[in-house]
Amino acid sequence: MMRSKFTLFHIQSLLLLLPLTLLPSHSATSPFLFLSSDLPLSLSVADYGATATGRHYDTAAIQSAIDDCASAFSLQHRPCQVNFPPGKYLTATLHLKSGVLLNISRNATILGGTKLEDYPEKQEKWYVVVAENAEEVGITGGGEINGQGLEFVKRFDERKNVMVSWNETGACLGDECRPRLVGFIGCKNVRIWDVSFNQPAYWCLHIVRCRNTSIHDISIYGDFNTPNNDGIDIEDSNNTLITRCTIDTGDDAICPKTYTGPIYNLTATSCWIKTKSSAIKFGSASWYAFKGLLFDNITIVESHRGLGLQIRDGGNVSDITFSNINISTRYYDPSWWGRAEPIYITTCPRDNNSTAGSISNLQFINITATSENGVFLSGSKGGVLRNLKFLNVNLTYKRWTNYVDGLVDYRPGCQGLVNHSTAGFMMEHIDGLEVENVNMRWAEEKTQLWNNPLDFRPSTVNNISLLNFHSGLYKQ
Ligand SMILES: *[C@@H]1O[C@H](CO)[C@@H](O)[C@H](O)[C@H]1NC(C)=O
Ligand SMILES: *[C@@H]1O[C@H](CO)[C@@H](O)[C@H](O)[C@H]1NC(C)=O
Ligand SMILES: *[C@@H]1O[C@H](CO)[C@@H](O)[C@H](O)[C@H]1NC(C)=O
Ligand SMILES: *[C@@H]1O[C@H](CO)[C@@H](O)[C@H](O)[C@H]1NC(C)=O
Ligand SMILES: *[C@@H]1O[C@H](CO)[C@@H](O)[C@H](O)[C@H]1NC(C)=O
Ligand SMILES: *[C@@H]1O[C@H](CO)[C@@H](O)[C@H](O)[C@H]1NC(C)=O
Ligand SMILES: *[C@@H]1O[C@H](CO)[C@@H](O)[C@H](O)[C@H]1NC(C)=O
Ligand SMILES: *[C@@H]1O[C@H](CO)[C@@H](O)[C@H](O)[C@H]1NC(C)=O
Ligand SMILES: *[C@@H]1O[C@H](CO)[C@@H](O)[C@H](O)[C@H]1NC(C)=O
Ligand SMILES: *[C@@H]1O[C@H](CO)[C@@H](O)[C@H](O)[C@H]1NC(C)=O
Ligand SMILES: *[C@@H]1O[C@H](CO)[C@@H](O)[C@H](O)[C@H]1NC(C)=O
Ligand SMILES: *[C@@H]1O[C@H](CO)[C@@H](O)[C@H](O)[C@H]1NC(C)=O
Repeated sequence: MMRSKFTLFHIQSLLLLLPLTLLPSHSATSPFLFLSSDLPLSLSVADYGATATGRHYDTAAIQSAIDDCASAFSLQHRPCQVNFPPGKYLTATLHLKSGVLLNISRNATILGGTKLEDYPEKQEKWYVVVAENAEEVGITGGGEINGQGLEFVKRFDERKNVMVSWNETGACLGDECRPRLVGFIGCKNVRIWDVSFNQPAYWCLHIVRCRNTSIHDISIYGDFNTPNNDGIDIEDSNNTLITRCTIDTGDDAICPKTYTGPIYNLTATSCWIKTKSSAIKFGSASWYAFKGLLFDNITIVESHRGLGLQIRDGGNVSDITFSNINISTRYYDPSWWGRAEPIYITTCPRDNNSTAGSISNLQFINITATSENGVFLSGSKGGVLRNLKFLNVNLTYKRWTNYVDGLVDYRPGCQGLVNHSTAGFMMEHIDGLEVENVNMRWAEEKTQLWNNPLDFRPSTVNNISLLNFHSGLYKQ
């Protein structure tokens, strides 16, 4: 009852504002100048009856505020904000709409529900906050969206947690049935900034088939031992900018994928990343092209893999630059993909029904890495790596964990894990590799199996050029 009264009040006040937009807002003398149509409207979820207790579900109150805000946008074309004052807002799935900016203030948290009935019937729609086919939408405010991921842990294990899987109803099959945190699907002009996304139960921020997305000044924190809590998954989307982000997760941090269409023009800069998987990972879903991607000014610490391309499904990768990147990679439990490679570029058919995509025109410029394993560059018969360039790259190899080495990792699919001695650059199926100003330094201790700076067979590797390449031992 309370809620519907508030809602009515707000719709009335929105309607009252309507005629004002007809006034000449360009007139400097207009007393209504402050109501000019580009001034955003703002509504507070408190006025809609949200309790902010973190125990009572505030779903209906928040959704009413969003819906009214969206009406203001569609009636008046005024952008509209939904404000969350400090407090905790427990909620089932919220549907974000065109023209609405969620302004989650500092000390405000949107808490995702942890029950199956908190989410829509269809598994593809399991998000705490989701926008579908919306334009001019965003999230900001300095606050937090939290998926309560630890509530989904069935058994804690510092190698890898065992997670709940909501697969009893048949809406989702397998052991990865948990809700994602935030999704933008088929959207245009998305802006996400100054907000934290924490403890997702599954993927954290999911951008699907969107155009013109800007994500900046955000932080993502997910439990280090929880599988599938990816940072940002960008799927089948064009013109995406990610800058000034901090991502600390168990699973992949920035992960472009292609399922139903290509990815063009993704730029990620000035980020700090730590993950038990790949810091940057292409794939492994890779059915369509990846073209025009730039990664610059990125720090990757203590991760299981640095820059990774896991192309398995026939999509082609081209025109990719990685520049000004510092990497430290180490071994973790082998149940996680990754073998401490600072750079891992692979394309091979996932299974008998797949084809290998091609990878061409990749540049690695100004890269520094300290790692427990070497660079792995592996094409395959139908998917040769073409035109790779390494310029100004310093690689330091040493061992500081006790995990076993001596395996190369083709997962998922392909040849799986294969015994092979560790090399500085391990190369196969390449046509065109330029190495210029590359310096490899080898720690003396624990590296008996490592005396192999460049490992390749001329029958599958063609056109390598080395200019100012140096390899040598160093003492700590
Ligand atoms: C969000 O709300 C706060 C206080 O409610 C306000 O200071 C801030 O300007 C708003 N953010 C944006 C982007 O408008
Ligand atoms: C947020 O909480 C901190 C600690 O409780 C407090 O010092 C700060 O003033 C609060 N900020 C806002 C904007 O409420
Ligand atoms: C449901 O998930 C569990 C793991 O949590 C798994 O062992 C089981 O095979 C799954 N069942 C179905 C039908 O997917
Ligand atoms: C892209 O989206 C931003 C909002 O995030 C908007 O300001 C900008 O005008 C959009 N660009 C295009 C070309 O639509
Ligand atoms: C991205 O651009 C490509 C090439 O123009 C196009 O085929 C694809 O449909 C675009 N994707 C989206 C989501 O607009
Ligand atoms: C990618 O960016 C380039 C350069 O800004 C632009 O010409 C091209 O249209 C963009 N591609 C897509 C699919 O938007
Ligand atoms: C590089 O990223 C850091 C944040 O990680 C930022 O402080 C710095 O300004 C960036 N440098 C450039 C040149 O953009
Ligand atoms: C990489 O390390 C060098 C030397 O410590 C430092 O000057 C540079 O700013 C770092 N760059 C990044 C992107 O972390
Ligand atoms: C990848 O490139 C090959 C060779 O040009 C082409 O036959 C194939 O269709 C491309 N794959 C996709 C998914 O576009
Ligand atoms: C390959 O495709 C066939 C026919 O669609 C299917 O029966 C088989 O399970 C697929 N094999 C794999 C490994 O996916
Ligand atoms: C690599 O090391 C050399 C010598 O220590 C140094 O001059 C150069 O700046 C380093 N380059 C990078 C990209 O770290
Ligand atoms: C590589 O580093 C050098 C020296 O710091 C700098 O002048 C150059 O612009 C950098 N290259 C790229 C592509 O960022």
